[in-house]
Amino acid sequence: MSAVPEFPLQGVRCQLRRWLPDDLPSLVRHANNPAVAAQLRDVFPHPYTVSDGRAFIEYAAGGMPPTALAIVVDGAACGGTGVIPGRGNERRTAEIGYWLGETCWGRGIAPEALALTTRYAVEAFGVARLEAFVIASNARSRRVLEKAGYVNEGLRRQSFLKHGVLHDQCCYAWVTP
Ligand SMILES: CC(C)(COP(=O)(O)OP(=O)(O)OC[C@H]1O[C@@H](n2cnc3c(N)ncnc32)[C@H](O)[C@@H]1OP(=O)(O)O)[C@@H](O)C(=O)NCCC(=O)NCCS
Repeated sequence: MSAVPEFPLQGVRCQLRRWLPDDLPSLVRHANNPAVAAQLRDVFPHPYTVSDGRAFIEYAAGGMPPTALAIVVDGAACGGTGVIPGRGNERRTAEIGYWLGETCWGRGIAPEALALTTRYAVEAFGVARLEAFVIASNARSRRVLEKAGYVNEGLRRQSFLKHGVLHDQCCYAWVTP
């Protein structure tokens, strides 16, 4: 049904590949940032320790095809994308997520990484739909989704609890043309 594309997935601004043990220092340096963690599920901790990074890279190595990919800029892993394939009647749907180290923001890297991951998910997992849930006030990420061809399908009111506060989330989706 599906074929695993060859890595790296090559873009103009970045490339995507599997996480490697040697990525640990760069991962921790970029991930240990409250501005990044604030927009993500609590499974992405803050502070982000070496032990967190090591556990993540071990987890990421296990997927075949991999569901977590490193965003590599100038040879260093400075962010990540992830795909969570659905099950049962939703097995042609996957959730997609992403983050980027703050020193790399504003260079159009995340939209390219998102587009590469979208194509990857179609090829590797045979999905027809990808969806992303973004805190409604995260205007930067909403713009990233729009630039990658995702459409806002509506609001999931008070669906995201972060630091004791309930946030609305937008559901963005991309479907195969
Ligand atoms: C969201 C994130 C991935 C953006 O990555 P990026 O590579 O910097 O994205 P871009 O370079 O395309 O810049 C973001 C876009 O948002 C725009 N933008 C920035 N701040 C904005 C704001 N406050 N309001 C509206 N748009 C804004 C930028 O102008 C740019 O759009 P443009 O190219 O049309 O000018 C990165 O900031 C990040 O990792 N944030 C923390 C984690 C996160 O939010 N992950 C997503 C969870 S759903």
